[in-house]
Amino acid sequence: MAGAIRSLAAAGLRVLVQTSAAGSLDEALRPGALMLVADHLNIAQRSPLVGAAGGADERRFVDLSRAYDPALRAQALAVAHRLGIALREGVYAWVLGPQFETPAEIRWLRGAGATVVGMSTVPETILARHAGLRVLALSLVTNMAAGLSDETLSHAHTLAGAQAGGERAQRLLEAVVGALEP
Ligand code: HPA
Repeated sequence: MAGAIRSLAAAGLRVLVQTSAAGSLDEALRPGALMLVADHLNIAQRSPLVGAAGGADERRFVDLSRAYDPALRAQALAVAHRLGIALREGVYAWVLGPQFETPAEIRWLRGAGATVVGMSTVPETILARHAGLRVLALSLVTNMAAGLSDETLSHAHTLAGAQAGGERAQRLLEAVVGALEP
């Protein structure tokens, strides 16, 4: 994604709005629920800024203390409230995958403060912050994480979960993007 995000920034893009599917570690966030990413855990401990993409200068030491733009998050929460769509903030834990987690890993992630777990978003956020873009990220819960339900996890299962919240996610996304300052 390094080339893509850098090109978008060079073309004048200022805000990156991301969407993702995720597994929930929180009993109150069921499949079909939406979560606004307030922060992340880079469990993979990989960085897209290692090597050529990060360059050799000090700009690669990117501050991530407000990686998910607080003003954009407040705007998104207000839009969701206006539309009557439940939206909660939480922490997104990034794992490499492609295999799903074990129940033990999910218990560990829960202890570490994760609300949901997924295989995307975080490297893109790091690249976007490095390029000076503001970031907003929404996650659609497609399944309860490993060990939190009796269901067998699979890609098909995640796709079915995505269907459950897809229409609401689309409505929210359209309104959130529409509310962005020009
Ligand atoms: N784990 C990791 N990534 C995911 C999941 C999950 O349970 N669901 C959707 N993406």
